[in-house]
Amino acid sequence: MSVNEFLEKAWSDKGPKLVSGFSRPLYHNLVGLLKGRKYDKRAYGGMIRHTEAGMLTEWASQVPAGGVIVEIGCYGGLSTSYLLNGLRKKGGKIYAIDPFNSDLDKQEELTDDCVPLENKPTKSLVEQRLKRNGFDGMFELIEGFSQEAAHNWNPEVKIDFLWIDGNHEQAYRDFKDFEPFLNPGARVAVHDAHPRYGYAAVVEDVKKIFAEGAWADLEHVKSIITGRKVG
Ligand SMILES: C[S@@+](CC[C@H](N)C(=O)[O-])C[C@H]1O[C@@H](n2cnc3c(N)ncnc32)[C@H](O)[C@@H]1O
Repeated sequence: MSVNEFLEKAWSDKGPKLVSGFSRPLYHNLVGLLKGRKYDKRAYGGMIRHTEAGMLTEWASQVPAGGVIVEIGCYGGLSTSYLLNGLRKKGGKIYAIDPFNSDLDKQEELTDDCVPLENKPTKSLVEQRLKRNGFDGMFELIEGFSQEAAHNWNPEVKIDFLWIDGNHEQAYRDFKDFEPFLNPGARVAVHDAHPRYGYAAVVEDVKKIFAEGAWADLEHVKSIITGRKVG
C-alpha cells in the first residue's frame, strides 16, 4: 500500500460502531485499556486519548536498549509519562521540549491556540511529576522552542523516536529540523493528524513528512500517524 493509500484509509476509517470511541484494530483498544489509563489525564491537562497513550508506551518500549526519545510539546507531562513508562525497560532517555511558562510574550505571538497560556505548567512542576512517577534520571526537560533545541542539538545524540506534538502549524518544520539526528529505522509519530479531530495544518504536514523517503510499519491510532523511517 502506498503512503497516500494508507493515509486515505486511516482518515476514512470510522471504527466499529458497537462501542463509541473504539478504533481499529481492536488491539489498540486493548493496549489503551491495559496501559493507557495509568496517569491522571485531567490533573495533567493532557490531550491524548487512552488508546494513544497506551500505544505511546508500546512504541517507546520498542526502541533499542539505551534508546533516545525526543518529545516536542510536553505541556503537563502526560504523554511524557506514558513514553517514559515504555522506555523504562530500555534504560533509555527522553528529551522533552516545551517553553512551559517561560517567554510568554513569544508564546502569545506564536500560539496556535491549542493550550491556554494562563497557568501553564512550569518546568519544575513537570519535573516533580515525572520524579514522583518514578522516572528520575531518565528525562531532560528542555525549556524553550523546538527550533532552538534543534539548532543547539548535540549531533552525537541520535534519536530513536521523535514524537511531534508542539506547535500545530510547524509539524513539518519540526520533522525537518530533527531529521538529521534520526537513527536509521527511527520512529516518527505526529499527533493531531486527522482531518476530523486534528488540525488541518498538521494533516497537510503529515502528507509531506511521509511522502519523503522510505517508511516501514505505518500505523494510525486515532489522531496519531506514525511510521519508522528506513530511508
Ligand atoms: C498539545 S500540547 C502537548 C500535549 C502533550 N503532548 C500531552 O499529550 O500531554 C502542545 C505543547 O507544545 C508547546 N509548544 C508550542 N510550540 C512549541 C515549540 N515550537 N516547541 C516546543 N513546544 C512547543 C505548547 O506550548 C504546548 O505546551
